[in-house]
Amino acid sequence: MCGIVGYLGNKKATEVLVEGLSKLEYRGYDSAGVAVNTGDELSIRKFKGRLAVLSDDLEKSPIQGTLGIGHTRWATHGEPSDVNSHPHFNKDKSIAVVHNGIIENYMELKEELQKEGYEFLSQTDTEVIAHLVDKYYEGNLFDAVYNATKKLRGAYAIGAICKDNNNELVAVRKDSPLIVGLGEGENFIASDIPAILKYTKNVYFLENGEFVHIQNDTVTVLDENRNVVKKEINEITWDVESASKGGYEHFMLKEIYEQPNGVKETLVRRLDENGDIKLDDIKMTKKDLEKINKVYIIACGTAYHAGLVGKYAIEKFAKIPVTCDIASEFRYNDPFVDENTLVILVSQSGETADTLASLRYAKDKGARIMSVTNVVGSSIARESDDVFYTWAGPEVSVASTKAYTTQLVSFYMIALDFAIKKGSITKEYYHEMIEKLKQMPEKVTKALEQENYIKEDIAKSIKDKDNAFYLGRGLDYSIAMEGALKIKEISYIHAEAFAAGELKHGTIALIEKGIPVIAIATQDSLFEKMVSSMEEVRARGAYVIAVAKEKNKEVEKSADKVIYIPDVDDILSSILTVLPLQLLSYYAAIERGCDVDKPRNLAKSVTVE
Ligand code: AGP
Repeated sequence: MCGIVGYLGNKKATEVLVEGLSKLEYRGYDSAGVAVNTGDELSIRKFKGRLAVLSDDLEKSPIQGTLGIGHTRWATHGEPSDVNSHPHFNKDKSIAVVHNGIIENYMELKEELQKEGYEFLSQTDTEVIAHLVDKYYEGNLFDAVYNATKKLRGAYAIGAICKDNNNELVAVRKDSPLIVGLGEGENFIASDIPAILKYTKNVYFLENGEFVHIQNDTVTVLDENRNVVKKEINEITWDVESASKGGYEHFMLKEIYEQPNGVKETLVRRLDENGDIKLDDIKMTKKDLEKINKVYIIACGTAYHAGLVGKYAIEKFAKIPVTCDIASEFRYNDPFVDENTLVILVSQSGETADTLASLRYAKDKGARIMSVTNVVGSSIARESDDVFYTWAGPEVSVASTKAYTTQLVSFYMIALDFAIKKGSITKEYYHEMIEKLKQMPEKVTKALEQENYIKEDIAKSIKDKDNAFYLGRGLDYSIAMEGALKIKEISYIHAEAFAAGELKHGTIALIEKGIPVIAIATQDSLFEKMVSSMEEVRARGAYVIAVAKEKNKEVEKSADKVIYIPDVDDILSSILTVLPLQLLSYYAAIERGCDVDKPRNLAKSVTVE
């Protein structure tokens, strides 16, 4: 996903832009560039490769100026190259634009513009925007951008500056995130909060269709009909430190260790003085709930795996049938969605294109929309009827960890809230489960104490393997899926999650001497069966690494290694079981010399379908 930063103030623009872009590197990119108004011209520098290539160039030949736009590009149209990097500009370089998103009708616009004599240098869709703004520019940049965007179809967050005015920055958002940073005598635009946190904590979240017109130190937000919009200033509680690594080698390890606090924050801030759950961001009443006869949980990747646990919890506590589906499939399967359906979208970033598209599909069908997301003001949050925010803090590493465990806590709370409203559980059981949830932060801390054992004894033992299997039954099967995804996406070891009972139906053919099998055996009711599965694969030479509760020491007879988690109720075990799997994937990736926080081919938030 691309990253945008824009600045108008009294500092050297390139310093602010490069600093801001460095805080957006987590989004994944393949090139970076800036455009600065020097007073005489727009000076543009842009290169394929890491941000360091750009910053080195600016070191060697600085650009003076206090107005600029910057961009990190995640290629969608046109391969990574200097010419395809942003900013893009018009023929005489008097206008420069940066863009995050996809212009779906760019080919027809490009042909129209070429017929009018416009020459294109790049293969990108974005360059169309630069020439369109040029086409409509008659001395007023805002008007030109406004008129240009009326021709665009697709998703876009755009920043634009022009040579003629050294004190004007124009931006607009539609379906791609964009915020406005409000400083003292300086203002910013950015794709995400960490880019501007060093300078200000006060932001506007732009809604779809909103423009921002920054002139000198005045910020005006206008809607798609050019009516001025009175925006609420959001003060960001994250500090720069929390968006940095905090002393850990990687964001991923920092975020793994932020889980006790994330679990606690997500839980305790929603308990009232009686210890009851108060979901103040959920406006769904008991009456609304009585209308609901089915629930869909829709998400991608790790968020989908959290949804599988959510399905389990809502069905067990609230006795409502739940279907959990991946967002890129859901809306193409003609699902049974109507006004009696609750659709819960799960998304850490709140910007995942497939999940957002599923939200809009379900909303069109009359469903009640709830979202579980980690980003205040994200697109998915703003388009939901109810939002359940995970309070995990910024998750920067591409591999999702603390977002996952806080999503699990969210689902337990939603399930308990539904259940007590429906009367499907007693008040005693309700309070008993809440008390057990309150013990989870401490149990999470205890489970993470296995770090060194995992690092030294286990990660090293699988670092040269190319394949691994993750087995589980019941709830452990969905944790197996998350464990397999984690190790795949950061260590590039191929891993497959399997329902242990399915082994005999084919997969066991792949079990050979030394192949690692991570066997997750935390469900008391299925423990014996899991031990049998472990014996089956071990008999065929597998190297079995078990994850089990402390009370089940007998598992050592059936495994080569055992990672224990603190004893806990079966249904809550998922919060703990995933932790050793996160650490295992992290240290396996370290052993294999992988780029843990920015794995190849991946972006933190997939905002294209
Ligand atoms: C998880 O480790 C991956 N980075 C990826 O599967 C991610 O969970 C998925 O892209 C969904 O992202 P979201 O939660 O921001 O929607």
